[in-house]
Amino acid sequence: MNKIILALDVCDFKKAEKLIRETSSYVDVYKVGPMLFLRFGREVVKMIKDSGKEVFLDLKFHDIPATVKRSIESAKELGVFSLTVHSTGGEEMLKAATSVENRPRIWAVTVLTSQITVPQEVIKRAKLAKTCGIDGVISSPLEIGLIKKECGKEFNVVTPGIRLAKTDDDQKRVSTPEAAVKEGADFIVVGRPILEAVNPAEAAKSIYGSIMKD
Ligand code: C5P
Repeated sequence: MNKIILALDVCDFKKAEKLIRETSSYVDVYKVGPMLFLRFGREVVKMIKDSGKEVFLDLKFHDIPATVKRSIESAKELGVFSLTVHSTGGEEMLKAATSVENRPRIWAVTVLTSQITVPQEVIKRAKLAKTCGIDGVISSPLEIGLIKKECGKEFNVVTPGIRLAKTDDDQKRVSTPEAAVKEGADFIVVGRPILEAVNPAEAAKSIYGSIMKD
C-alpha cells in the first residue's frame, strides 16, 4: 500500500471527488476529518470506497469508554480502514476501543503536531497506547525513530506535519516526506502541501517520486 495519505480537508463534495480523481495514481488512503464528515457522512465514505480507495476516519475520539467503544462499532459498520482516538483518553478508554472485534486499525494521537512537546511525553503516550492494544500512533515525523525503538517495528507510526519547504503555519514539528519515510514512517499524512498546490496532481506525483527513490 502507498504510504501517502491525503487529508481531504475540504468542505465541498465535488472538490473531494476531483482531488481523488487527480491523485489516485499516488494515493491509496484518503483521510476524512470532521470538516467533510459532518457535511457528507456515509455518502463521502461510500464515494471513496467506490473509487477503490480506503478511508482513514480522523475524528479523534476522546470520550468515556462506553461511548468510544460504540463509536468504533459504528465506524466498523462504515467499513473504514483506520480511525483515530486521543491517547489522553486514558487506559480504560483505549482498552474499550481495542475490545471491538474485527475493527478498523486504531491509531492514537500522542501530541498534536501543532503543539510543542518533549519526546518523553510522546513516548509515554505511545507506550500506553501499545499496552492497550492500539495499532499505532499519529505523531510528528521528528519522533519516528524513537517510537519504533521503544514500541517495535510492527507498531504503526503515522505522521502529519509534512512540509516540502519551510513554512510559517500552525504545524510546529515538521519534516519532509522523504525524511519521514527514511526514518520509518508507515504512512505520511499530507494536506495543504497538496491541497493548496497550483497543481495538486503534480504535487502528489512529486511527493510520491521523492519517497519511492530508494
Ligand atoms: O495541511 P496539513 O498537511 O498540515 O494537514 C495535516 C492533517 O493531519 C490535518 O488534517 C490534521 O487534522 C491532521 N493531523 C495533524 N496532527 C495530528 C493528527 C492529525 O496535523 N496529531
